[in-house]
Amino acid sequence: MFGKLKGYEVNKNEITIEYEKIKTTISIINEGVINFFVPLHRKERNSKAVEKINYTNVDFSIEEEESSIILKTTKLIIEIKDNFIVNIYDKDRNILCRDYSGEREPFVRHGNNLFLAEEEGHSLNGHKDYKIFIPKIMEDNMYFYGLGERTGSLNKKGYHYKNWNTDDPSPHGETFEKLYKSIPFLISLKDNNAFGIFFDNHFETHFDMGKENSNYYYFSAVDGNIDYYFLYGPEVKDVVNEYTNLTGKTPLPQMWTLGYQQCRWSYSPKERVLEIAKAFREKNIPCDTLYLDIDYMDGFRVFTWDNKSFENPKAFIDELNKMGFKVVTIIDPGVKIDKDYSIYSQGLKNDYFAKDNDGIVYKNRVWPGESVYPDFMNSRVRKWWADNQKIMIDTGVSGIWNDMNEPASFNGPLPNDVIFNEDGLEVTHREVHNVYGHMMSKATYEGIKEATNKRPFVITRACFSGTQKYSTVWTGDNQSTWEHLRMSIPMLMNLGLSGMSFCGTDVGGFGHDCTGELLSRWVQVGTFTPLFRNHSAMGTRDQEPWAFNIETEEINKKYINLRYKLIPYLYDLMWKGESTGAPIIRPLLFEYQYDKNTYEINDEFLCGDSILVAPVLEQGMKQKLVYLPKGNSWIDYWTGENYNGGQYIIKNSPLDICPIFIKESSIIPMGISQNYIGEVNNDELILNVYLGEDGREFNYTHYNDDGESFDYKEGVYNQYEIKVSNKDTINIYFTVIKNHYINKYSKVKFILNNLKEEKKIYINGKKVTLNNNIIEFNI
Ligand code: GLC
Repeated sequence: MFGKLKGYEVNKNEITIEYEKIKTTISIINEGVINFFVPLHRKERNSKAVEKINYTNVDFSIEEEESSIILKTTKLIIEIKDNFIVNIYDKDRNILCRDYSGEREPFVRHGNNLFLAEEEGHSLNGHKDYKIFIPKIMEDNMYFYGLGERTGSLNKKGYHYKNWNTDDPSPHGETFEKLYKSIPFLISLKDNNAFGIFFDNHFETHFDMGKENSNYYYFSAVDGNIDYYFLYGPEVKDVVNEYTNLTGKTPLPQMWTLGYQQCRWSYSPKERVLEIAKAFREKNIPCDTLYLDIDYMDGFRVFTWDNKSFENPKAFIDELNKMGFKVVTIIDPGVKIDKDYSIYSQGLKNDYFAKDNDGIVYKNRVWPGESVYPDFMNSRVRKWWADNQKIMIDTGVSGIWNDMNEPASFNGPLPNDVIFNEDGLEVTHREVHNVYGHMMSKATYEGIKEATNKRPFVITRACFSGTQKYSTVWTGDNQSTWEHLRMSIPMLMNLGLSGMSFCGTDVGGFGHDCTGELLSRWVQVGTFTPLFRNHSAMGTRDQEPWAFNIETEEINKKYINLRYKLIPYLYDLMWKGESTGAPIIRPLLFEYQYDKNTYEINDEFLCGDSILVAPVLEQGMKQKLVYLPKGNSWIDYWTGENYNGGQYIIKNSPLDICPIFIKESSIIPMGISQNYIGEVNNDELILNVYLGEDGREFNYTHYNDDGESFDYKEGVYNQYEIKVSNKDTINIYFTVIKNHYINKYSKVKFILNNLKEEKKIYINGKKVTLNNNIIEFNI
């Protein structure tokens, strides 16, 4: 396609390669991260995902061989040939990723190909043609992960997905090739050697993991530049870290956002919201957040309040705040066409809305009826939208929920040629569709930050790679079905691997009617997912934790309480993730990559590195087949029983039991259960120590701060290091490493679990005695 390789030039970390038809660029970001760029659409990169590339000084060599160039870093060997064919090996010459240069050979579709071509945009020989098509040789035993929010199995081998943010109201199924989010990032794992490919192109893109032909996998785009990164592992962990070094880490959120959240379309009028709030407190079921869906607005006009149902919203929110609730309101992008509505008239006057091909403001229909679409590609519009957040914040709102930002439209899709103005550059909807929600979330984040100076809480439905810097995500309109509960596990695990650490599903399911049993099993999963929000659609059966019967209410309460006890652990994970990119909810292979049995486990997950959750995902099921990975033993959280890793076990799991296993030799900080985060000023740190095999040493770092501001970035936090050495005697070392946040613990309670024989115990060198497996220690 690009012709013969004619020569190359090196400029710092960049190698420009001249082909007969075009110049391509290879940039060495670091020893294991390489960018491949061909300016097919624009001369420069126009990334919305990567805001800054941190190049490191890399020692690399280049050799010229006959019609190819060999580039070597300390980690990789890269062979570049005619037509920009690229083959990548690790430093020991193990194959990682080789371009496929054979013909496309789609699988045979018997039947009427003409019909298929019309229906699905395939060409007559059965495949779709793309402007950019980059096939790679499929090696044996390859496994694929990532790609964000996808239906189907954890391992993406054999699937084809499309990136085109889509609001499809029909029940999400495994056949869905696209959903609300576009994350063109794929992880490949083979022989314990992992790498990633991030295709930074926001046009419609596709990833096919050997579905078209098992000899190759490919990524492709309808337009744009070739601009992709190869990110070497060898561990999946390294790949995720490198990907989030490029696109950004999920930042530490405000602590209350990790509490339980209750939503419904819609709690309205305000008396109903207060009724729900009171029920939580009366029943002692913890809850931090209540959501207001579209009905709080005046005729669905964003940034307004319905004066009848929500008269005096500020006083109403004050009342909720006093009860310990935060309020999050929905804000959609569609602005109602109404000349007496200030947001519409301001936008019209200042030229803030997307236009059609003839330069007339483009309109479509969403909840408010005929509406227009703010042009979030434009920095003036983002600033205006950001400033508007203050309207909500000043009313007492604590977070903003951005929905319908694919963007959704009820009168057919937005045409490809709707025009956006990227600060002077005219761009079409075809180019920017996939980043519309991303840019909206960015504006929302910046506005809330400006108005509050706290860590903003934004939750978005549509997003692109990099949105994790600004927003939490949820997986849109699922259904109250067992199938959707099952589907949510691999979906969330892959979202986590794709940088979206702070994610969740609508617990209990959005559409359709939930049952008590389904809700309880879903709450058990939600307890361990970073975003823990129960939400349901208009007209469906009530779905609050108490909505069914006393048995399931008690179970839901037990797990929501457990969630609150786990807040210090989850907060630690969030804090650690801000530097490592490691997600909260992890597939087993993330920690146990050398154990192949973990590669396709769809129905278990790790919460951090120490808790393995094996939820029951089927109606009526009272036993669960659990795989415990190799390398350490596992302790049943409920019974204290010990199991060796590297085996399948069957666990009894009546409705009130979600099988949970703690990794031996680990430490889990725990708080107390309370009605909402911060209700009780607790100055005691509880450390659950799970002893393991004799001879093991293990440690843990615990973090705390004010839970809301950015002061931690200036070092205003406390950090504690706990080391345990379990030999003939047990030695525990507790050290305060950083001591800059004013609210400090004054005592620590160590709970020693899995102690098999009596041993002498020392804390910081001093002998202590156990009292019911508990040691109290004053700091
Ligand atoms: C969309 C959202 C859903 C919300 C509804 C009404 O369907 O995905 O969560 O409740 O719109 O705003």
